[in-house]
Amino acid sequence: MESYLNKKLIIGSDHAGFETKKDLKDYLVYYFKEVIDVGTFSNESCDYPIIAKKLAEYLEKDKDALGILICGTGIGMSIAVNKFDFIRCANVTNKEFAKLAKMHNNANVLALSARFVSTDENIEIIKEFMRNKFEDRHQKRIDMLNKIKSL
Ligand code: RB5
Repeated sequence: MESYLNKKLIIGSDHAGFETKKDLKDYLVYYFKEVIDVGTFSNESCDYPIIAKKLAEYLEKDKDALGILICGTGIGMSIAVNKFDFIRCANVTNKEFAKLAKMHNNANVLALSARFVSTDENIEIIKEFMRNKFEDRHQKRIDMLNKIKSL
């Protein structure tokens, strides 16, 4: 987990994830060099693609950063942010998927659910993701993702 102390965390949510984002930020501030919150900043209804795009713009400038997006399910956020070719976002709702999202997919964004997963569970999910390592044997498939249309 210590390796994340040198990294930035970029975090965003829509209205459904707003409260969870606040709680996760309070916890995660101790694990990262810097935390950048790309919104939303209230419970008022908003559109998750806008937040996903903002996060992607920050991540493009700092490819070493970790992104966390939260919406009701995590599904909309993951669909939106995976439109960017430098992003590998995993919609993760349990610890085992968190581990595999790092070990096999080297995800750089986690999309979390505020409505179906508790804040405590989401914290466990994030910690599980951070404490695992990418397995190099999967690099070939990661490389294929970047040229998927010409495979
Ligand atoms: C908002 O009601 C909800 O649709 C959104 O948070 C998310 O779950 C979409 O995937």
